[in-house]
Amino acid sequence: MRKPIMAGNWKMNCDNDEAQALADGVLARAGQVEDATVILCPPATALTTVHAAIANSNIKLGGQNLFWEEAGAFTGEISAKMLLACGCEYVIIGHSERRGRFGTVDEADAEDLAAIFSDTDATVNRKVRAALAAGLRPIVCCGELLSERQAGKTDGVVAAQVRAMLDGIDDEGVANMVIAYEPVWAIGTGEVCDADEAGRVCGMIRDVVEQACGPELAEDMQILYGGSVKPDNVEGLMAMTDIDGGLVGGASLKADSFGALIEAAVASVR
Ligand code: 13P
Repeated sequence: MRKPIMAGNWKMNCDNDEAQALADGVLARAGQVEDATVILCPPATALTTVHAAIANSNIKLGGQNLFWEEAGAFTGEISAKMLLACGCEYVIIGHSERRGRFGTVDEADAEDLAAIFSDTDATVNRKVRAALAAGLRPIVCCGELLSERQAGKTDGVVAAQVRAMLDGIDDEGVANMVIAYEPVWAIGTGEVCDADEAGRVCGMIRDVVEQACGPELAEDMQILYGGSVKPDNVEGLMAMTDIDGGLVGGASLKADSFGALIEAAVASVR
């Protein structure tokens, strides 16, 4: 039985006061939830504030990105160790808003720091390794562009991203990963992917994990859907066998709507 996850990706929203208020609101609504894992991913500047706010609750903390080096001259970057020190247990990796030109940067460019700081399939894999080595659970994103969907390339694009993120990860590492399917065209657009189609792609992702890592790790992999998840569409998404939760942007910025999503995740286990 896979435990559902409802993760709020606050993106570049909430200064410290706003983060405190939002965390307090989520805490009041869902602080003691046990049947689903609730994760808040505020911007890095608010991690410590949110960590203090959710102390003594069941809510978990996540970062939105990391850099794979432990320390050094990497202006603006944050290491896995720094996220751990802020109380993070999770970290989002490879979100489409961070994938350089949506993951199409040529590996030949990777010598260039500008390209390194734009995620590619290869840098996503390095970040996954760094997160796992430090003891963080990565929530690793994949998803196709609208043009790729229209060209019938969805499964090929997503499968390649999943194979790349899993490359060289040992069984223990895979067991600590979460995969988020986020079709790029559904993010922040209000255009949710039809639940059946989202469930189908998440099932295809599970098949790719099975081919790469075997049936047991595939069966246990928590696979989330992200892209315009809202209280009025969450039930249909959570009803899909291969969808184990949501990675939520806009609707995670209000305690009421995020609370409703958490309740739907809890209801899906009964
Ligand atoms: P929205 O829920 O705002 O579409 O964002 C989804 C997302 O990108 C979560 O990581």
